[in-house]
Amino acid sequence: MKQRKIVLSEKELPTQWYNIQPDLPTPLEPPLHPGTGNPVGPDDLSPIFPMPLILQEVSQERFIDIPEEVLEKYLIWRPTPLYRAYTLEKYLETPAKIYFKNEGVSPAGSHKPNTALPQAYYNKISGTKRICTETGAGQWGSALSFCCALFGLECKVYMVKISYNQKPYRRIMMETWGATCVPSPSTETESGRMILAGHPDSPGSLGIAISEAVEAAVTGENSKYALGSVLNHVLLHQTINGLECQKQMAIAGDYPDVVIGCAGGGSNFAGMALPFVRDKINGKDIDIIGVEPASCPTMTRGPFAYDFGDTVQKTPLLAMHTLGHSFVPAPIHAGGLRYHGMAPIVSQLIMDNIIRAEAVPQLETFQAGITFARTEGFISAPETDHAIAMVIREAVKAREEGKEKVILFNWSGHGLVDMAAYEAYLSGQLSDHALPEEEIHRALEDIAPLPKPKQYKPGTIS
Ligand SMILES: Cc1ncc(COP(=O)(O)O)c(C=O)c1O
Repeated sequence: MKQRKIVLSEKELPTQWYNIQPDLPTPLEPPLHPGTGNPVGPDDLSPIFPMPLILQEVSQERFIDIPEEVLEKYLIWRPTPLYRAYTLEKYLETPAKIYFKNEGVSPAGSHKPNTALPQAYYNKISGTKRICTETGAGQWGSALSFCCALFGLECKVYMVKISYNQKPYRRIMMETWGATCVPSPSTETESGRMILAGHPDSPGSLGIAISEAVEAAVTGENSKYALGSVLNHVLLHQTINGLECQKQMAIAGDYPDVVIGCAGGGSNFAGMALPFVRDKINGKDIDIIGVEPASCPTMTRGPFAYDFGDTVQKTPLLAMHTLGHSFVPAPIHAGGLRYHGMAPIVSQLIMDNIIRAEAVPQLETFQAGITFARTEGFISAPETDHAIAMVIREAVKAREEGKEKVILFNWSGHGLVDMAAYEAYLSGQLSDHALPEEEIHRALEDIAPLPKPKQYKPGTIS
């Protein structure tokens, strides 16, 4: 019988995360202070993050030990299974071999607990009592709520309003784990009130919700902020997934020619891809593709520039691909991909031509999700459907070229709490959102006065 799933034993769980920073061909440009424009030091970040995470953010150590208590709790859902998508391959009549890593088996249903768990742990041992955060689709908020519950921490979540309305069950999951969740922009923070004064009907965005959560953290007692993507320490924690994949691909006797992940802030994509990026830097030939929505084309149409991580300009400036901190993407259903920026590590690897980016329109992603559900069975998160759409494009290309490629992708989460999105698609209510160049230019005007990274390229890169 053909082997369908490659499952590691608990003993085979990786005990270290992989930090790509010492292996990057071009070192990252430093984050800059939002007020002074000077590089930020650990002390500047200490009102927001606990020190162990700040040190991981800048660490040059290639492998970082995972604390025992985190390993024990990772075992709740890790190692996750790697699947061979035989039925999808057959349906597409492709000679390609397709593998997917099922990150939907975590209690919150996605890859997000891979970092929520260590973030809750490091906060706990640093004396934090309450963690504030933002959430788009609700996946990150629910992951952090779950992991705060494991460590007895309070959790406050600002959820992008459009998703809050589209996904009530995510809020109820957060509340079940003991967290408090409010729609953003809210009237609870100065940032939220400022946005609502200008745009009373604002659907919200991750940039706005981050402003609210950072403000709540720095003004609250014993409170810190946690980010579910973008930052170096988040990507570091997510590499546990790529490290497992490397062991599983070795058991399968294959090595990927193509590695694919959807990218909102870049964490699930990088978590799978970075250990393979290391191999690529060391000579392997791999096509590594991050996939984003055509309506929020940060990597494919945004310049590499310094920008704020949030809308209200409270966070440090990061050198990254960005559409401008005031950009509010169309209300597509992949809420977790509606972010104006991209992880600095992912952005730098794009600049160095080590990885590449593609954008896909919404309807194609849902069609891909339906195809996947009807072949492999699993119903994917709308974000994950972006990766599947790209996998299908690559598998069809392999068929046309007659090449037996090995495609590996990250199945970042299930869509069982996203059925309203599928209903909208199945009943023909969804559409694609074209994004005019002028709209991007308008949003980019806001970043024109900001400092420029060395590799800055003006204009858009499409
Ligand atoms: C299932 C799923 N996949 C992907 C993403 C995108 O985030 P990231 O790029 O950080 O992996 C999200 C974000 O909420 C998500 O919930």
